[in-house]
Amino acid sequence: MEGLKNLVPSSWHLPLQWCLLLLPLTESARAVPWKPCTDLHPLDLLSRVLPRDGRALAGVRMVQAGDARGLQILSPSQALTFPSSQLFVNCPLFPAEFSIVATVKVPHTRVKRTEFLFAVVKEDVNQLLLGLRFSKDKVHLLYQGSMGRERLSFKRIRLADDHWHSIVISISGHHATLTLDCGIPLELVHEQPFPSDLNTDGSRFHIGSRRQWKGLFTGLLRQLVLLPGSDATSRVCPSSRPSLTELSIPTILSHLPVKTLTNDVLLPPYETEIRVTLGSNPACTGAEQGRLWFDTLKRGLFICDGTRWQSMSQEKDRLDYVEDYQDLYTISETLDIELFQIPSLGLFAAMAHRATKPGSAIYRWDGGHFQLYQNFSTFKAQAWKQFTVGGKMFLAVSNSMGPVNGGRETSVIYRWSNKRLKFVRYQTLETHSARDWEAFHINNEAFLAVANHRTENGNHNIDSVVYKWNPGTKTFDVNQTISTSGAYDWEFFSVGPYHFLAVANAFDGTSTQTDSSIYIWLGGAFQLFQSIRTFGATDWEMFQIGNRVFLAVANGHMLCERGPSLYTINSTIYELDMTTKMFLKFQDIVTYSAVDWEFFSIGDEHFLVVANSYDGATYSLNSVIYRWQGYEGFVPVHRLPTIGCSDWEFFTSAEGSFLMYSSAKAPLSKVFKLKVH
Ligand SMILES: *[C@@H]1O[C@H](CO)[C@@H](O)[C@H](O)[C@H]1NC(C)=O
Ligand SMILES: *[C@@H]1O[C@H](CO)[C@@H](O)[C@H](O)[C@H]1NC(C)=O
Ligand SMILES: *[C@@H]1O[C@H](CO)[C@@H](O)[C@H](O)[C@H]1NC(C)=O
Repeated sequence: MEGLKNLVPSSWHLPLQWCLLLLPLTESARAVPWKPCTDLHPLDLLSRVLPRDGRALAGVRMVQAGDARGLQILSPSQALTFPSSQLFVNCPLFPAEFSIVATVKVPHTRVKRTEFLFAVVKEDVNQLLLGLRFSKDKVHLLYQGSMGRERLSFKRIRLADDHWHSIVISISGHHATLTLDCGIPLELVHEQPFPSDLNTDGSRFHIGSRRQWKGLFTGLLRQLVLLPGSDATSRVCPSSRPSLTELSIPTILSHLPVKTLTNDVLLPPYETEIRVTLGSNPACTGAEQGRLWFDTLKRGLFICDGTRWQSMSQEKDRLDYVEDYQDLYTISETLDIELFQIPSLGLFAAMAHRATKPGSAIYRWDGGHFQLYQNFSTFKAQAWKQFTVGGKMFLAVSNSMGPVNGGRETSVIYRWSNKRLKFVRYQTLETHSARDWEAFHINNEAFLAVANHRTENGNHNIDSVVYKWNPGTKTFDVNQTISTSGAYDWEFFSVGPYHFLAVANAFDGTSTQTDSSIYIWLGGAFQLFQSIRTFGATDWEMFQIGNRVFLAVANGHMLCERGPSLYTINSTIYELDMTTKMFLKFQDIVTYSAVDWEFFSIGDEHFLVVANSYDGATYSLNSVIYRWQGYEGFVPVHRLPTIGCSDWEFFTSAEGSFLMYSSAKAPLSKVFKLKVH
């Protein structure tokens, strides 16, 4: 034992003893040659997670930036992890002396985020054993010490500037150094030496994350090497290219890409950071072939094929922008999603399911995913509406048929019970093939309006009802009836001191070409403000951009007395004209049996997404995201494949910005994450 001591670095004493202790007694009785827990060679962590044959890895892209390639991680995945036991083959202790060499490129936009380059996580208890984390200008090495979580922080390290940088972190006893781009090492002296008994049993290495979405590394990663037993600085520095200095690089990243990429889907997609031409409509001839043009007006990227500019953005946008996040399998098909917050419990999604057994359900956003929370008995539910009256939270469902036993057709208002932590039945109202509830307040009074679609014997020209909260009886009473034609949706909105209620009338008994009306609140009642010709209208969406007020209608279909129905028709956006005090047509957008518009903003950009449900032949259609481009109006920027899409909802959470859609044709709703750059 004593004799061996001089052969190994000082900090390996303890691990060595541990290793020996862990050996079976019979073995230790014999004179076994000493071995550290792992070889003292560079352990290339990045190569370890990449398929050897250069195949693409889901959730990982190769990107060429400047003259070097790196990997971009789009989602944490099991493929980017491996058990620690793969590295520490002789015994499970993390070396007490080691270096980490990393080469990264971090965009400057990541202002407040903290991200992990890698983490060693004890899987069963989800405990971070060691992790390399950084924020805008700090690099932290976190690890589990004998007294709990320890942190070594290097400050004022300018990594996030969108340039390649190489860092070497070296740990030895009380000393930690960080060397950026082979510059002058920064040294930290820590009170406690790095533990020599950090047991990695049952843990995994996670590359580019700490096993969850939060903290996912969003930059480019080119090199990630663990060198047990020594300081790597002298092995990589000085260097002729200090920001790209190499200890070990995955082969796939080391040479420059082949010139042409075939459309082989198995090849990792990659981008090049090559120069692009700006300006309006530059020349595109043989001389410009292969050159890129970025049209700042349309924000489109075009490539010159030798004669004309071909758009490149479509495929790229789709890949970059919106990614699958959660497949939410539901009890049955879903016609509507209503998102709302319950204080202390967070975000919920109420989903109107078609099947009457077990009915509809609400789902809670928990740990970054929706999970079933409560079932409700509903009858071909069409929509949910959440609202608050006097601090109490309510949820109303529109049932579009009566109970199977032939009972009266009703819709139900539920109230949230803080004691039972669920919704309980509160009030039942008679409705007629109810399609939608709208809740709103006017002058501190609470109202609820139902869209009655048709009577039990099939008459579409019936009254829809506006109810008002009676603070005495604490129930909703009828306040006004408004005659509607196959009503599908109510939309309430206020502009300055004025309150409006718009109805989407879908069918008048003979035709879907019917007027949908906008009412204005005057003298204690809604009065007709304007009627607009619509085609099987299913939804109104009001939104504001700056001080401009818009109203978009989703047109479902054009029913022709002779000949087939048309589903490929225009849906129209109207703008409130302050001079004429009328909504005037602003833009037509071709839709495919549109059933919902959803407006949302990210930063200072504004978007509309449409639910296209049917084109006359198929329910498998793209829903389209349009971006507001000023005088150009809304321009399509993304297409998302959907099946019988019935609703789109936008939401943000701690995990980011999301879009969610429901399907009227499949018991599957999908959550997409919006990559915000
Ligand atoms: C809701 O109903 C489904 C289907 O019957 C059932 O599997 C689930 O356990 C129920 N969940 C709750 C929270 O009641
Ligand atoms: C409806 O409510 C308004 C506002 O409270 C009130 O002025 C009006 O009289 C009510 N109408 C009916 C018919 O109750
Ligand atoms: C949609 O509207 C545009 C312009 O208003 C018109 O040119 C086009 O023919 C319409 N398309 C359909 C399918 O109705």
